[in-house]
Amino acid sequence: MKTSVCIIGGGPSGLMLSQLLHLKGIDNVVLERQSREYVLGRIRAGVLEHGFAALMREAQCGERMDREGEIHEGFFIAHDDRMDRVDLHKYSGGSSVVVYGQTELTRDLYEARDRMNGQVIHNAEDVQPHELTSATPYVTYRKGDEVVRIDCDYVIGADGFHGVSRKSIPKGVLREYEKVYPFGWLGVLSRTKPVSPELIYARHERGFALCSLRSQVLSRYYIQVPLADKVEDWSDDAFWAELKRRLPAEVGAKMVTGPSIEKSIAPLRSFVAEPMRWGNLFLAGDAAHIVPPTGARGLNSAASDIYYLYHAMLAHYQRGDDSGLENYSAKALARVWKAQRFSWWMTMMLHTFPDSIEYDRKLQDTDLAYLFSSEAAQRSLAENYVGLPF
Ligand code: APR
Ligand code: PHB
Repeated sequence: MKTSVCIIGGGPSGLMLSQLLHLKGIDNVVLERQSREYVLGRIRAGVLEHGFAALMREAQCGERMDREGEIHEGFFIAHDDRMDRVDLHKYSGGSSVVVYGQTELTRDLYEARDRMNGQVIHNAEDVQPHELTSATPYVTYRKGDEVVRIDCDYVIGADGFHGVSRKSIPKGVLREYEKVYPFGWLGVLSRTKPVSPELIYARHERGFALCSLRSQVLSRYYIQVPLADKVEDWSDDAFWAELKRRLPAEVGAKMVTGPSIEKSIAPLRSFVAEPMRWGNLFLAGDAAHIVPPTGARGLNSAASDIYYLYHAMLAHYQRGDDSGLENYSAKALARVWKAQRFSWWMTMMLHTFPDSIEYDRKLQDTDLAYLFSSEAAQRSLAENYVGLPF
């Protein structure tokens, strides 16, 4: 098989790039290790920067997002039994975010690929990139007993944190930067009316909590838990009781509880791999970087990678201009590190740390006090949360 661009990974990053390239007549194939059902069974975050929403529309996949997604112009930070609102619209100069589940977004991307007869190969086993520094790279994968070879011009590593692509960069070339946080997030999805029309990020001495949503009848909640906790340690009743303890009394009192339809614990880590290009391999999304979910930057960090790769491939195939490909890693990393910084800052400000000293906690108090006493600080938070320019 021969294609122009072989994309490893059928998550949001890989699918978005596949769709954008196809619309411009650039042939590509997506190789996904799992079944479609498995990919769509993952529960992920739900806040889209305006830049990601724009990419979805450019990819002709934004119709359901625009119909069912919610425009949010602010969110709350709860602390010391009070609620302070961050006015994103005012402090970002009129921008906002779209609240729309990543699972639904991935479904929209798959359906668009199907509509255009896109080549998405599921259950592709043992995917291996080869000859990445040659002019004729190729990728092999196994389908049952058959080994299939795909010759291509470029390989995109959109295969997430546990994928094969990043590991294909030689150890002497690859540099990895990682920070692991001493806690996780226990997340619950419930068919209940969300407690608040806008998100609530809560700082509390018992730990962080977050009130989010997928729709007006589907709520998403999180509480910070110790790394040693297991999801089976937490009954629904115990979860709801702890969540309410971490919220202002007025919020807890109106919380609509119900059975969890999904409950899981995710660890928090910050991670960046450099460079994001090696020969004709380009890394994108979680394959190259991970953020703690506090700043809702995960999928949105992938968006700028895809945007840069899309325009670089267009320039190459339409004009023979390789400057975008040459500059991709440096350009993508410049924005990736800004998302890393913002996610780290939100995480450090809002969580309790088992090894913190009183001085640390006073600095967290001060961070919040400064935020809500300074328009400049709120402009800084807002421009990061709605999305820095691509
Ligand atoms: N071969 C083929 N596919 C693979 C391989 C492999 N060796 N390893 C992983 N994959 C697939 C995974 O099954 C997954 O569907 O690559 C896909 C990677 O998707 P994501 O992990 O969702 O990463 P990405 O598309 O970059 O999306 C980033 O999704 O995971 C969230 O928090 C993350 O919001 C961020 C966004
Ligand atoms: C979510 O809705 O899952 C969500 C929202 C905001 C975050 C993290 C997760 O910062």
